[in-house]
Amino acid sequence: MTTITEQKKDTISIPVLKDVFNITTVESVKQDKFLSKEHPLAGHMKITPQWSTPVGEMELNLPEEMRIGLIKFIASRGYCTTMGTHKKTQTPEFEANHYNMFEFGEDEEVGQHIRGFEKIASEMIRYYIANSWGTKNVESMKLEARAFGNMQTNGRRTYPHYHHSFDGVMITYLTLGGEFDIKGEDTMNEELLIIPRNAEIEPIKNNKVADYGSFELSKDDLPCEGSGNILLQDPRPAVSYPYDNKAIAFEPKVGTTIFHPAYLWHESNTYVGTGIRAAVVVNYRVLTRNNSGIVKPLV
Ligand SMILES: [Fe+2]
Repeated sequence: MTTITEQKKDTISIPVLKDVFNITTVESVKQDKFLSKEHPLAGHMKITPQWSTPVGEMELNLPEEMRIGLIKFIASRGYCTTMGTHKKTQTPEFEANHYNMFEFGEDEEVGQHIRGFEKIASEMIRYYIANSWGTKNVESMKLEARAFGNMQTNGRRTYPHYHHSFDGVMITYLTLGGEFDIKGEDTMNEELLIIPRNAEIEPIKNNKVADYGSFELSKDDLPCEGSGNILLQDPRPAVSYPYDNKAIAFEPKVGTTIFHPAYLWHESNTYVGTGIRAAVVVNYRVLTRNNSGIVKPLV
């Protein structure tokens, strides 16, 4: 487990939709950095109280090189679908795909993209924590994190789960399909459960979602409403709540970034698009003296 890069004095640019902000420009503000209305993310990250839980959302406009670099990296790590959350730890393939993206060094090109993304993630997560709970001095808060890719092909979904022993989750969508395919694999085959390590991506050429010039549209020509949506669900049991009142759905676009506490149950609708759908996920812990400073391994 690595520690998210602590706030340094060097320049960190956060590319949000339509603009790029230089974080160093707010360093002179005397007010708490992350609670200041002058912070570049103010007005860009929307934090909404859902049930009793703050959920953050913003549109991140990553440099294209970084976005493609991260997609390539995620594809190269392979992918193993489990047909149920409870089976996850029972397959060697799944275990082999567990990794921490933030552990990769800067020696390779992708390492530069990963480091750059880690700094952006750290700034966004700190802003979310500060403004969700009114926490001060988040700049000096110690966080530790794990980052990994979530990749889906046709017919796949992420099953309902939450993240035991983490405090928060951030997910940034890198591609929502129709853009890249895996070389040498038939990703439209619903039976495809494993994409091997060192897989490479290739652009999908002449991809069309539907042939609107034809009146002979088949079901496959039409995008499925809600395909690939992410669903968050209030985990509190309450028989008086029907499911629809406890779950909220997001229809992610490229760059959509969602922030939520790790205790929230989350899942995705089945992906029925072409090529791959890929996101980078960051699970993080807030290290306080209570939960990390004074605890010891139990005999
Ligand atoms: Fe998750």
